[in-house]
Amino acid sequence: MFSRPSRSAPAKRHLTRTLAFRLTAAYSMAGLLLVVVATAILYMVLQAELDRSTALFLADKLHVLRTMLRERPSDKDGLHEEIQLENAARRYQRFYIRLVDEHGAPIMTTPGMADQLDIAELVRLTRNHPEASFAMAGKNGQPFRVASAAALVGAEPPQTDTIQIAIDVSQEVELLSRYRLWFWAILLTTSVLFPLAGYRIARHGIRPVEQIAATARRITSTNLREWIEAEGYPSELATLAGTFNDMLDRLQESFERISRFSADIAHDLRTPVNNIRGETEVALARARTVDEYRDVLESSLEEAVRLSELIGDLLFLARAESPLTELRLEKVNIGELLTTVRDYYEATAADAGITLTAVQGAEDVTADLDRSLMLRAVSNLVSNAIAHTPRGGSVTLAVFIAGPEARIKVCDTGEGIPDEALPRVFDRFFRVDPSRSQTSGGTGLGLAIVQSIMTLHGGSAEISSQLGRGTVVALRIHTAAK
Ligand SMILES: Nc1ncnc2c1ncn2[C@@H]1O[C@H](COP(=O)(O)OP(=O)(O)O)[C@@H](O)[C@H]1O
Ligand SMILES: [Mg+2]
Repeated sequence: MFSRPSRSAPAKRHLTRTLAFRLTAAYSMAGLLLVVVATAILYMVLQAELDRSTALFLADKLHVLRTMLRERPSDKDGLHEEIQLENAARRYQRFYIRLVDEHGAPIMTTPGMADQLDIAELVRLTRNHPEASFAMAGKNGQPFRVASAAALVGAEPPQTDTIQIAIDVSQEVELLSRYRLWFWAILLTTSVLFPLAGYRIARHGIRPVEQIAATARRITSTNLREWIEAEGYPSELATLAGTFNDMLDRLQESFERISRFSADIAHDLRTPVNNIRGETEVALARARTVDEYRDVLESSLEEAVRLSELIGDLLFLARAESPLTELRLEKVNIGELLTTVRDYYEATAADAGITLTAVQGAEDVTADLDRSLMLRAVSNLVSNAIAHTPRGGSVTLAVFIAGPEARIKVCDTGEGIPDEALPRVFDRFFRVDPSRSQTSGGTGLGLAIVQSIMTLHGGSAEISSQLGRGTVVALRIHTAAK
């Protein structure tokens, strides 16, 4: 009937389109990005800190020397100590100081400075960078940081010397290069570890989904009892599994109903056919009188009528369920409709010793209805009421307005329906007492038809009953303009 696109998963899934792959890729990207950003920031901070401590060291040294030159210009021992001895005591972070006078002639120099640095180059660069520090390469290739500053010597008359300091920063440079090495090592390791860990996590996370899919694949109409064990699933997937299980339950239920329904149909069709067949066989066994043949034919006709009614009812229900069913709506005076039904059943009720009345309300109640269908619904109710009400009882039809809807009520003072059967009376083929209805000709489809007629009208049917006291069936119809 309906063609729909194939919904089964493609047999061969491309790796890059699997959820596990995508999750893994996402984890790894995020993880690596985090590592790169974090280490890069740490690297920059480290570099800045090293530069700062070098700069502080240089500034500090310059300050000490300037103070000494200004305050105690004659303290040659102090200067000697600062410039020539202190450096020798150091093993790392060696530094070299050169003190020159106004004409550039050296006054004092840290021993060995000329071995490490090209002094002419140093002088030229300090002239280019007055009052600032700059980088310079030593003679053996080590990196240096250099700063220079003018210093007043003495007070009267003042004279200006120049201090030049160069500090060996190879320790710092080496530290940074080791850091960079570590950075690549970490990046390499994590770029292997992240995908591995990510893939494991992703596989673990989607395992329940695969189990649900596997269960779904196993499901056929015969094993709808399959069940997904959602124990230990994360809550989102537990919900999915729960929904799935509920769906299976509903499917199971409707399959059971359908198979029960077809068994019922088969049974109900077989009975009249068997009757016709049996009687005909017996009649044909020997020669019969015309009257005997007539009896058999009459009985066969009865069964045939029963059969065609049953088939008609089934067809009606099948059609009513089709979404294409259309109602022939017209303005119907419900009071008049009830009177019509009353008139139709008057004789039957009188035969059964039952009073049948249609209560006329003060005002007319009209609604848009399919007249013939509503007649059929009300007739089914009245025939039930008469069938289940003993002699001397009464059956009453009434209509009234309740808010936006009209309500038709069929009340009887009959035997009533037991509470446990009440919820099932609208089911197809359901009879409270199957043996009795079999003889009285009921098929168990009457109320099912009433309900589907009401559903077609957008209304509903409700039943209430008290055992031994009577039954009330109410049909609710919207009267508000549709
Ligand atoms: N007014 C009523 N009083 C008592 N029992 C009723 C009444 N209407 C329906 N029932 C019960 O509900 C069952 C289903 O009704 P229905 O669908 O009309 O089937 P049927 O009349 O063919 O048996 C009946 O078999 C009967 O047992
Ligand atoms: Mg009935």
